[in-house]
Amino acid sequence: MIVLGIETSCDETAAAIVADGKEVRSNVVASQIDLHKKYGGVVPEIASRAHIEHLDVVIEEALCVAGCDAHAVDALAVTNRPGLVGALQIGVTAAKTLSWAWRKPLIGVDHIRAHAISPMIDLDESPWPAVGLIVSGGHTSLFDIRSTVDIKLLGATTDDAAGEAFDKVAAILGLAYPGGPSIQRAAETGDASAIRFPRTMLKHGSLDFSFSGIKTAVLYHVHGHGKTSGGLAKLSPQDISDIAASFQQAVVDVLVRKTMLAVAKTKRSTVVLGGGVGANRLLRDSLQVICADHGLAFHAAPKPYCTDNAAMIAAHGYHLLRAGMTSDLTLDAYPTGSLV
Ligand code: KG4
Ligand code: ZN
Repeated sequence: MIVLGIETSCDETAAAIVADGKEVRSNVVASQIDLHKKYGGVVPEIASRAHIEHLDVVIEEALCVAGCDAHAVDALAVTNRPGLVGALQIGVTAAKTLSWAWRKPLIGVDHIRAHAISPMIDLDESPWPAVGLIVSGGHTSLFDIRSTVDIKLLGATTDDAAGEAFDKVAAILGLAYPGGPSIQRAAETGDASAIRFPRTMLKHGSLDFSFSGIKTAVLYHVHGHGKTSGGLAKLSPQDISDIAASFQQAVVDVLVRKTMLAVAKTKRSTVVLGGGVGANRLLRDSLQVICADHGLAFHAAPKPYCTDNAAMIAAHGYHLLRAGMTSDLTLDAYPTGSLV
């Protein structure tokens, strides 16, 4: 069964063709990073306009690379939550139009659920049930994933998402947007034990997260608490690398510890990792090592399916379609997710 996936929830215009929920025939992503870079973050109105300009070309390319046409497509899956509402509406309107014109079923997909199941793309065997750590620019969540359509939230961020913390700390350090890859690069030559930034665990046994404290700690470390500010100008490239490495280590420590706590609570024997921050090398390697030490299976989403893409939307759409969970032409866009 062939599903065309469409993704426009934030700053990536994406379309993909996926067969049977796992075989990715095309995965086209038009990134808007260059448009938003100078503002240090995503500007919603610019994102919506760019989606309008690029979406039809991106869909055509996805069909062309996969070597298929409208007749070969069995269904359309589109992200309809959570995200920037104006941006989501572009994808939802396009998918509804194609669903009506091609007379093919329409499936509304929750972006975070799609990130949660993305580690199964390219796997021969289904990894469920599993604990899922899904870390993106807008969300930091732990899930008990029992199947592709049965996902229970175990814990989530109470303030900044992990990716948001990477982006904000990169801005404090004068590093380029998006912050995750910039911090990872700077950290390569840094000493991760140079500064002991806080590891916020919240109350005993909690599976929730908080990353606003560490962001403030980095801000104070760079600028000082008062008028005696050091400031970015006084930091050497080595200082910046040390701060980046120490920050990255602190965030990864919290994510790994909480994931292992979720494993202990659920008694699952498999861990999966997805979302943009899931592309982080230290996080991938640390989870790999700790899972091996504890005899757990570990699957990280392949890197192209960590950051925003439509392959995961098509893959999740396939499973919803099989479960009869289709949408109709009243499908709307929502800023919030369906997992609470
Ligand atoms: O999943 P995603 O592409 O979009 C959302 O759904 O939010 O995640 C984007 C986030 C950004 O905050 C970006 O800085 C972060 O993922 N990110 C990384 C890395 N690559 C992207 N964070 C840490 N290390 C990376 N290598
Ligand atoms: Zn995402």
